[in-house]
Amino acid sequence: MEFEDLIQERYSVRSYQSRPVEDEKLEAVLDAARLAPTAANKQPFRLIVVKTEGKKDQMKRIYHGDWFSEAPLVICACSVKSESWTRRDGRNYVDVDVTIAMDHLILQATELGLGTCWIAAFDAEAAREILKIPEGVEPLLFTPLGYPADEIGPKSRKELDELVHYEEW
Ligand SMILES: Cc1cc2nc3c(=O)[nH]c(=O)nc-3n(C[C@H](O)[C@H](O)[C@H](O)COP(=O)(O)O)c2cc1C
Repeated sequence: MEFEDLIQERYSVRSYQSRPVEDEKLEAVLDAARLAPTAANKQPFRLIVVKTEGKKDQMKRIYHGDWFSEAPLVICACSVKSESWTRRDGRNYVDVDVTIAMDHLILQATELGLGTCWIAAFDAEAAREILKIPEGVEPLLFTPLGYPADEIGPKSRKELDELVHYEEW
């Protein structure tokens, strides 16, 4: 798929088929995250792949939407701040690194016909408890991973001239 088609076709999938995700597709999606650039190549992220079958109640505690656990898989992207790069002035980039890895994962999934949805509005304490995430590691983002059962709608975005300045602010 051409890149311009890929970014048009990715959307937040909020309804999933129960059809399993093939192992090769899961591996390709995870490998796309692995190949993402990170500040100073520190790779300060970890991914937790969860099979949702039989875990609907636990998944519901993590995120309220019923569609979250409709997908056969849910992936949690975690940050490991102690492994990450910090600029001289103290600005840390771990969230940027995790987000780029997640974006790679999501775009690769789209290319393979799989649906995803960025999820930040989850219960971090529930995620920590249920997924046994240790101290020093933070669950930052989730996505379901599965075949879409809905269809893309219109994209609502600001115009370029609202977003871009040339030469100066
Ligand atoms: C960092 C981030 C967090 C998000 N968190 C949620 C969320 O918790 N729940 C949800 O339904 N959508 C969430 N979204 C999806 C956005 O609402 C969605 O990307 C945006 O409305 C644009 O729609 P599109 O993804 O279909 O193009 C999140 C997106 C991003 C990038």
